[in-house]
Amino acid sequence: MNLAAILGTGAALPEKIITNADMEKLVDTTDEWITTRTGIKERRQAAPGETTSVLSIQAARRALEMAGLTPKDLDLIICSTISPDMPLPATAAFIQNGLGARPCCAFDLAAACSGFLFGSTVAEQFIRTGAIKYALVVGAELLSRYIDYNDRATCVIFGDGVAAGILGPAEPPSGILASEMHTDGQFADHLYIPAGGTAKPASCETVRAREHYIKMRGNELFKVAVRSLEDVSRRVLEKAGVCPHQIDLFIPHQANQRITDAVRERLGVPQEKVYSNISRVGNTSSASIPICLDECVRSGRIKKGDLVLMAAFGAGVTWGAILMRW
Ligand code: UT7
Repeated sequence: MNLAAILGTGAALPEKIITNADMEKLVDTTDEWITTRTGIKERRQAAPGETTSVLSIQAARRALEMAGLTPKDLDLIICSTISPDMPLPATAAFIQNGLGARPCCAFDLAAACSGFLFGSTVAEQFIRTGAIKYALVVGAELLSRYIDYNDRATCVIFGDGVAAGILGPAEPPSGILASEMHTDGQFADHLYIPAGGTAKPASCETVRAREHYIKMRGNELFKVAVRSLEDVSRRVLEKAGVCPHQIDLFIPHQANQRITDAVRERLGVPQEKVYSNISRVGNTSSASIPICLDECVRSGRIKKGDLVLMAAFGAGVTWGAILMRW
């Protein structure tokens, strides 16, 4: 079977920057606490009217341009998001129409911060079998719309951002060499939005109780995140017969700089081979890895032939990894 590869990337970040100094005015926190506990200095916030699909279309156009393709070439569109334009229909439908793509299979995927890797792995299967040729996978989150700006434990962490990848048949030796996807629902209540679904439909009472906002047990998640990211990274490396020291670049989900540092140390990957942009964008959930990827490709940090490992962890809990040769 042919390999699939990421042929182009693109990102779209809202213009508005919220600094730690701005956060100090909103909640009982300090720049010092946020910087030392998370590594974050600033994050982006979408403007009113700027939606998940609007930013997704911008990111997708940039990715298509890099891949040398047009929207009409797309056979599949996957939008990974937990912050859709609206519950119904899928944000992927707005993206397909807004891009001017042909009517094609377009759906949303909810795997939180692991979503871009899950989406890319799903698309990869169809490309490898020859069922489709080109797929657009978007990691898109406007988490500011789901954040409680009274809750200092979450509002300082999350930021808005979108990034996209175009997947298609690989030209050897490039391509996705190994991938893994996992979910364990026993930790579902560690990161969730209690109301607005069938378990607790929206009502005046749920709104008053602020139950439409993200709730997180950060400390418990931290330990699961470090364990899972290390484990899944080792598994994909082993599948491909690659040792950690052979990787040219490691892009972990940007959840917390301390999580990145712990995973890097456990894997024995040197600091200079690990990419981090959390100080500038915070935790953008499923957009986190593709934003990093796009920055690395456009800045020349990733060069043709490089071995790149990407690993993600998020609500569910979900976790996954992809090893690819660029
Ligand atoms: O995206 C994927 C899923 N998410 C994650 O993987 C997140 C993983 N978790 C984390 O990144 C960290 O756990 C946090 C950054 C969320 C929190 O850091 P922590 O070191 O685990 O802090 P903690 O929750 O144990 O809280 C320590 C103290 C508490 O005060 P007391 O009880 O010790 O007096 C918190 O109330 O820090 C307090 N605190 C804050 N203080 C100042 C929590 N948030 C803040 C804040 N500013 N923003």
